[in-house]
Amino acid sequence: MLPKKTRAEIERLRAEIREHDRRYYVEDAPVISDAEYDALMRRLKDLETRHPEAVTPDSPTQRVGGTAVSDFKPARHAAAMLSLENVYGEDELREWHARLLKNLPPGEPPVFVIEPKIDGLSCALTYEEGVLVRAATRGDGETGEDVTLNARTIHSIPLRLGSASPKKLEARGEVYMANADFAKVNAEEERAGREPFVNPRNCAAGSLRQKNPAVTAKRRLRFLAHSFGVWEGGEPVDSEAGFLKACAAFGLQPVEHHEAKDIEEVIRFYHDFKKNRLPVLAYSVDGIVAKVDSYAQQKRLGSTAKSPRWAVAFKYPAQQASTVVERVEFSVGRTGTITPVAKVKPVFCAGVTISSVTLHNFQEIGRLGLKVGDHVLIERAGEVIPKVVKVAADLRQGHERDVVPPKACPACGGRVVKEEEFVAYRCDNPSCPAQLKRLLLHFASRPALDMQGLGEAVVDQLVDSGRIKDVSGLYDLKKEDLLKLELFADKRAENLLAQISDSKGRPLERLVFGLGIRQVGEKTAETLAQLYDLEGLAAASEAELTRIQEVGPIVAAAIHGFFHSPETKRLIARLKAAGLNFAKSAKKAASAKFAGQTFVFTGELETMTREQAEEKVKALGGKASGSVSAKTAYVVAGADAGSKLRKANELGVKVLTEREFLELAKR
Ligand code: IVH
Repeated sequence: MLPKKTRAEIERLRAEIREHDRRYYVEDAPVISDAEYDALMRRLKDLETRHPEAVTPDSPTQRVGGTAVSDFKPARHAAAMLSLENVYGEDELREWHARLLKNLPPGEPPVFVIEPKIDGLSCALTYEEGVLVRAATRGDGETGEDVTLNARTIHSIPLRLGSASPKKLEARGEVYMANADFAKVNAEEERAGREPFVNPRNCAAGSLRQKNPAVTAKRRLRFLAHSFGVWEGGEPVDSEAGFLKACAAFGLQPVEHHEAKDIEEVIRFYHDFKKNRLPVLAYSVDGIVAKVDSYAQQKRLGSTAKSPRWAVAFKYPAQQASTVVERVEFSVGRTGTITPVAKVKPVFCAGVTISSVTLHNFQEIGRLGLKVGDHVLIERAGEVIPKVVKVAADLRQGHERDVVPPKACPACGGRVVKEEEFVAYRCDNPSCPAQLKRLLLHFASRPALDMQGLGEAVVDQLVDSGRIKDVSGLYDLKKEDLLKLELFADKRAENLLAQISDSKGRPLERLVFGLGIRQVGEKTAETLAQLYDLEGLAAASEAELTRIQEVGPIVAAAIHGFFHSPETKRLIARLKAAGLNFAKSAKKAASAKFAGQTFVFTGELETMTREQAEEKVKALGGKASGSVSAKTAYVVAGADAGSKLRKANELGVKVLTEREFLELAKR
């Protein structure tokens, strides 16, 4: 039996990881570093390994990566776009290397190719007969977004490859923005009164995913090739170094590379690059990538569901700087959580000037032993929101003061309560304006009710003027109300009202998610909306909710508590009167394309592991089996297929290549 505490921790980790995935992949605005994200994921994996009964198909550990939510046409990748395993420090790198050697025959030590790890976003460029026909983002690794029109505006992406390029090539690489160009874009954004981008990566992502390619064109994005997904026809290459050389010959700019004969040389390069190159590099690099050079060895090593075994990202630690805490302010989140923020003496770190540093919660302040007036070491990990890593207590002069949790909400003066289990202080006032502003932004966000045009400035004005008291107030807005706001002319007001009106008919899961119930992310909202209509959900008991597979006691208590407050009851009644869709959503029918068909995989597959292939079959309603019989529908034969292939031929069972199988699964 899974102990209650472990189950709660697993759920908390999953909810946290999903939230970070959403911020990273949907909003391009991560709030934690890659290292912190990896630590959460590792902890979850560790718990799931020890308690395999707790693994659910929707756990973040079970996917290749990312979430695809978008306005762009989906673009399925011919071969999954995997990510890289990250290591932090020499010990972890050596462990990776030891694993590598175990999987290679003795006496064949691998030679490595080392490249900088460009901190951009991956992009797959498909060339047919040398002509660029598609550019796609990575998305969830299986399906990305078709950003061809935007990619065509990037000068370092050739529209046509030079001679001798393969018949079909899907080159993969990084779209990124140079630091100087990033600074220019941000200056422009600030002049226009918009929020600046947090870092060049997010800026590049936001620029590539523009609806209007003319905006992308202005942003001066660049592209460096580092791998490929498809290579058909033409002169084949047999190593990473050979591939990068070929890229240059075709007119694709390859990432710079260096060869290393052993792991010690990789380590030396890592330090040397950090000392001599990083400080003068024109763009952001967050580590080095070491790859086994030989494709024959790469093939032998294969991949896990998430990353190839033949490559590793050896990351640089975050960049750090020292400064002084001038004061601590408190910000109020969507659910009333009060987050302490240190206002520090402005300091330049990792390419930007920092004056605000999140302190997360009071437990963190306690752990750091931080006082106002302290000298602190701050760090910008992976170029995300900076944090305090250390307090220099020995530099204290006696005037430093303890940080005192606020007694009253800094936004509304409401009562502040402490919640043990969440280590947080919260404002208890349901009509606190700061909470309401955050909630409105969440309610209107793309994965929720998706009202474009309801940005921060509008929300501030609507709440500050007292025009809106809760989210249902959006549905009472009249054109005259909007015209009274600054910057609102006819057209803009009409557009926003149309968006608000459209939102009434959105599927229930978006409303459930949009309500901002603590612990309820998109996936849980979807499950709930498939089981209940909104009023049924509001009436569900805690015990009943706990019986739902992915809802544990903490989540059940949060849902129950939310719906049982008088404010929520009033809100639900108002949303009903406004005509929002409360109806239960239909379960997404599991695809039955392969229903009743058994597949047998044999030999070595190129683009996926055996498990991934079998998963695909199951997802489409079919069965995977280990042995061939007359009842087998298809045998999918990879390289070096042996007895099963013979048997299939004897029995007259249809044999597919891996590519044919993928085609069949796609149709
Ligand atoms: S090789 C799976 N090489 O890092 C192996 N990736 O976490 C294919 N990246 O999504 C990628 N610089 O977009 C490779 N020199 C480099 C890279 C690089 C940056 C990105 C890549 C990938 C992510 C992996």
